[in-house]
Amino acid sequence: MLNVALLVSKLWVINVLIDGENEGVGVIVQDFDPKVAFARVNRQRLHEAFLEHHVLCLRGGSLSHESFLRLSRYFGEPKIQLLSDYHLDECPEISVISNYNNIGRGEPHVRATHWHTDDSYFARPAKATALYAQALPGAGGDTAFIDCHAVLDAMPASLRHLIEGRKAVHKYLSRRGKAVVAERNDAEIKETPDVSHPLIRIHPDTGRRALYINPNRIDHIEGIPIDESDTILDEIYAFAFETRFQFRHQWQLNDMLIWDNRCTMHRATTNFDISERREFLRILLKGEVPE
Ligand SMILES: [Fe+2]
Repeated sequence: MLNVALLVSKLWVINVLIDGENEGVGVIVQDFDPKVAFARVNRQRLHEAFLEHHVLCLRGGSLSHESFLRLSRYFGEPKIQLLSDYHLDECPEISVISNYNNIGRGEPHVRATHWHTDDSYFARPAKATALYAQALPGAGGDTAFIDCHAVLDAMPASLRHLIEGRKAVHKYLSRRGKAVVAERNDAEIKETPDVSHPLIRIHPDTGRRALYINPNRIDHIEGIPIDESDTILDEIYAFAFETRFQFRHQWQLNDMLIWDNRCTMHRATTNFDISERREFLRILLKGEVPE
C-alpha cells in the first residue's frame, strides 16, 4: 500500500485502493469517523479527491441512512432511481442492491457481473454511484473497476479514429447486452426511451477525455451499418477490458464507496459463496448530458 496524500485531517490516511498499474486510481480514507467528518470535513477537499482518484472509499464508521445520504450530498445531488421496487420505503433516494433481491426469484443471484457504467440509458446518466456495504460474504465479492481515462490515453490512434466524434445508442434492453436486467413497470418503460451518447466524452469537472461505453446497454454506433458497428464495438471492448486498466475494491463492512461513472466502468465479481448475503445500499447522484 502506498501513501499518496493526506486529506482533510491528520487522522485520515489515504492509501491506494489496490496494488496494480493504475497507481493513484482509487483511494481509501482510513479511520473515517462520520461524526468528525460532519463537524470538521472540508467538503471541497473530499470532492477533489473523488475527482482525482475516481473511486473513493470512506472506511471506519457505520452509517445511518441519514448519514449515508448526507455524505453523498458532499459529492452531488441524489436522484430517485428508476426501479421503485428496490427503494427503501422510508428513504426513496436509497435503493437496496442484494444477491437476494427478486431478480433471482428468491434464489441468490449476483447482478452486474459484466462491465458497465451505471444509468447510461438515461439522457442524463448519474454522475456517481455511492454504495454502503451492510452485509458481506466471509470472503470475496469484490467490485472491479476500469479507468476509462487510461483506456483512452493508451488507445492506438487507428482504433480511436473509428469512434472519434461518433455516438452510440444506449437501450435499457440492448441487442448486445449479456446481463440479466431487472424488469420495468409501464411507467419505468416510458421513462427510459433509447438515448445516444458520445463514445468519447469530456469530463465536465476536469476537462479530461474518457472512453464512454456501457457494454450492457450500447446497441449500436450511429451512422454506420450494424455489422460494422458490431465489429468496432467488439474491438473497442476487447481493448478496454485489458487487465492493465483494471483495479478492484475489496470490501469491508460499513465501507462507503463512491465512484465516478463519467470515467470508470465497474462490475461485480463472483469470487464468493453466493449463498452468503452480499448487500449494499445505493445512492445515485444526478449527472449531466454527456458531451
Ligand atoms: Fe453498476
